[in-house]
Amino acid sequence: MKIRKAVFPAAGLGTRFLPATKAQPKEMLTLVDKPIIQYVVEEAVQAGLDNIILVTGRGKNAIEDHFDVSYELEAILTARNKLDLLQQVRQISDMIHVAYVRQKEALGLGHAVLMAETLVGEEPFAVFLGDDIIDAAVPCMKQMLDVYNTTGGSILAVMEVEREAVSRYGIIEIRKDAANGGRVFRIRDMIEKPSPEDAPSRLAVIGRYILSPAIFRALEETRPGAGGEIQLTDGIRHLLETERVYAFRFEGKRFDAGDKLEFLKATVEFALKRGDLGPALREYLRTLPCLNEKTSKS
Ligand code: G1P
Repeated sequence: MKIRKAVFPAAGLGTRFLPATKAQPKEMLTLVDKPIIQYVVEEAVQAGLDNIILVTGRGKNAIEDHFDVSYELEAILTARNKLDLLQQVRQISDMIHVAYVRQKEALGLGHAVLMAETLVGEEPFAVFLGDDIIDAAVPCMKQMLDVYNTTGGSILAVMEVEREAVSRYGIIEIRKDAANGGRVFRIRDMIEKPSPEDAPSRLAVIGRYILSPAIFRALEETRPGAGGEIQLTDGIRHLLETERVYAFRFEGKRFDAGDKLEFLKATVEFALKRGDLGPALREYLRTLPCLNEKTSKS
């Protein structure tokens, strides 16, 4: 069954990025010149998914405004003949059909996905976590849809992480008998934020999922887990009892945009790649005395 809908849980409080997120949603933090949520929505659009469901909460109005038509701004840009900017602003609202649903209480990622049940209905769908920005030649979700077209079932994006980092992720255990070539594996079990001793592997789930609609029944039965929250990982564990779930090692570089250092790295790398900013930024970085001191000492 074709995947048409993409769910974006965006109700989190963004405590890792305080104080920037005190009065603005973390999804609206700017990476170069776009809010991070726009990068992730663009990935969905590039993968052919333009039916977007945003799960929001209190204080998230800026996200809705960002994807809405801004008549006032468009009128001013038209009057000033700023047609380039006008086109950029229009593209954002033209890009997608968007529906919003509120998660009234922050009860966890699994609970957020469950909020989208009525809007998704009985069809497989994609989930994108806005903190995970993936720079890839072929958009990560597009890679996953290509796999889906041959395997069907649910598919989770995974990548190998350091042993010390496993407690920040959902970690999968693969079925030894079912390694399906290089990048696709059948999942046997998974655990949310295990200690390094309890982790069954170093393969961590990254925020891109294709899920069968049976996940909604599974989530309804899921009790609070790690951190006292209803975890998507635990819902997928239930799903594993009745359905096949695959892990896919995607090609690309992932940045955790919820982490301050990774956010800075993403900002520098994305800006360096830009034709209008890259050359001047590279030049500027070269002139920084602190960087040069380090080079001359080593
Ligand atoms: C969530 C998921 C986790 C996954 C991670 C990827 O955790 O619960 O399984 O590995 O996203 O970014 P969070 O980052 O919300 O704590």
